[in-house]
Amino acid sequence: MSTDDDGMMVPAGLSKQQVSQVRALAGFCEARDEYSMEARLDLGTLETRPEGSVSDVLWYESGQLVGFAGMYSCDDPSEVEASILVHPDFRRRGIGRWMARAVVRECQKRGVRRLLFVMPQESREGADFARAMGTQHSHSEYTMDLDVTRIPSFETTPDPVELRLAGAEDVPVMAAIVASAFAESAQEEERVLVRLMKDPAHTTYLAAQDGRPVGVIQSAVNDGRVFIIHFAVRPEMQGQGIGRQMLLAIVRGLLNSGSQRITIEVETENQNTLSLYQRCGFVMVSTTDYELLELPRIPMAPELLFDR
Ligand SMILES: CC(C)(COP(=O)(O)OP(=O)(O)OC[C@H]1O[C@@H](n2cnc3c(N)ncnc32)[C@H](O)[C@@H]1OP(=O)(O)O)[C@@H](O)C(=O)NCCC(=O)NCCS
Repeated sequence: MSTDDDGMMVPAGLSKQQVSQVRALAGFCEARDEYSMEARLDLGTLETRPEGSVSDVLWYESGQLVGFAGMYSCDDPSEVEASILVHPDFRRRGIGRWMARAVVRECQKRGVRRLLFVMPQESREGADFARAMGTQHSHSEYTMDLDVTRIPSFETTPDPVELRLAGAEDVPVMAAIVASAFAESAQEEERVLVRLMKDPAHTTYLAAQDGRPVGVIQSAVNDGRVFIIHFAVRPEMQGQGIGRQMLLAIVRGLLNSGSQRITIEVETENQNTLSLYQRCGFVMVSTTDYELLELPRIPMAPELLFDR
């Protein structure tokens, strides 16, 4: 299908041209809405997602891309996140609704059970749109950017934590740490770590204290911005300043290697982690709501699922 055709298309993957059209659409929306969808659309990964992963939905009017629904699947195949964006001049014409239905159909084909719509809290329309789709609030996250002027000065500690580049041999111990910190399965975590460590955009570090592995932290470059992810300290070692040392060490390393923008995300309910990030120099830049649509085991017409 050429981009001159109007209406909706669900391509198997996005071409370079389509990605630049999505960037242009995000730019129009940002100029008008006065907040950024960049991180919510995960623009940096649109071109590099593995083939056969989830599709996206595109909507054209007179050859112009005016609607985009990006679908993002993490490591759990039963869960997908979707971010929908409609050009400000084309809102309230049903385009968002049609794209949401297409997202539901795609998810049902893939046996997805949990569809999370990514809603910027700054969005004037997001809450009404979510209500129209009958979603339930799942959780909210803060996006925090590093403010270099707020990084605490270097401090010496009696029990220093050493951060070193992790290798394939560290995967089992790292998986055990992350799994225990997030109460997840170690086996699943091993698979995730192996996959992420193959990706050149990710760098994984193992933290050790007195030679004993105590934590894991990763950096992920996305569109010139570095995200700190997969940050975990052994549960029995938490609350002793290990996380703070790890975070400051990775931040200093990233700054030394020229990173301009460092971002971290945290659930709004996670007060301890939030204040740790603030004390290390991160400031809140936006809040994102995750709105859940549970999909039945037996596929159903999207019209019957939402649009109440
Ligand atoms: C949210 C967004 C995607 C909706 O797209 P849209 O094409 O304008 O939505 P639709 O016209 O299909 O609206 C569907 C329903 O949502 C509700 N809705 C959407 N925008 C609304 C608004 N501004 N005020 C009140 N209700 C609204 C209505 O119930 C509407 O149905 P109705 O027009 O029959 O009353 C669009 O406003 C947008 O891009 N916003 C910025 C980004 C964003 O918030 N994305 C999050 C979505 S995951």
